[in-house]
Amino acid sequence: MKVRATTPNHENATNFSVAAGSTTVVGTTLENLKAAVCGETGASAKYTAFAAAAKEQGYNQIARLFEATAAAEQIHIGMEAALITAAEPDYVKPEPPAAEGIATDLNLISGALGEIYETSDMYPAFIEKAIEEGETKAVQVFTRAKLAEAVHAELYLAAYNDIDAEDDDTFYLCPVCGYIHKGDDFEKCPICFVPKAKFRAF
Ligand SMILES: [Fe+2]
Ligand SMILES: [Fe+2]
Repeated sequence: MKVRATTPNHENATNFSVAAGSTTVVGTTLENLKAAVCGETGASAKYTAFAAAAKEQGYNQIARLFEATAAAEQIHIGMEAALITAAEPDYVKPEPPAAEGIATDLNLISGALGEIYETSDMYPAFIEKAIEEGETKAVQVFTRAKLAEAVHAELYLAAYNDIDAEDDDTFYLCPVCGYIHKGDDFEKCPICFVPKAKFRAF
């Protein structure tokens, strides 16, 4: 993802449309935040299981990618849960569901499909609602997650294509928005502009 002059958002970017035939159930922004936490909790559990499967199957770099992405979803959970707790102080986050990996190529496709759903359907629908309700903090949180999920999908498909051509690139995770960069050649997060020095290496 390229770094632009200003951070991308629904006003200056043209990839915020809601998917045709959207399957997202849209509630109030508070309900949508809870639904997003559930989705991210499932994704993070899945990726942790996929990391273990990749390691077992000898795909060490892909295992690191799944670990970085599982951690990215935890960042999304943290941002979303903070907004829920501000409205409902006794909110309790859901328990992670049981998850299991199968063949690593299929796990990458499963991950990419989930990420594409989130970036093109769930989050754009939630962003639209949050704009309508004037929930500006939720707009920003959903926007950052939406943009990061598309990058996760891209990384999963790149790993799928190069599954038998592993390299030793490190994955770097932005601690603010969950963006992940493959390799050392970058200066800052293209989504939230956090500098590389703050990123976590996997
Ligand atoms: Fe993601
Ligand atoms: Fe970021």
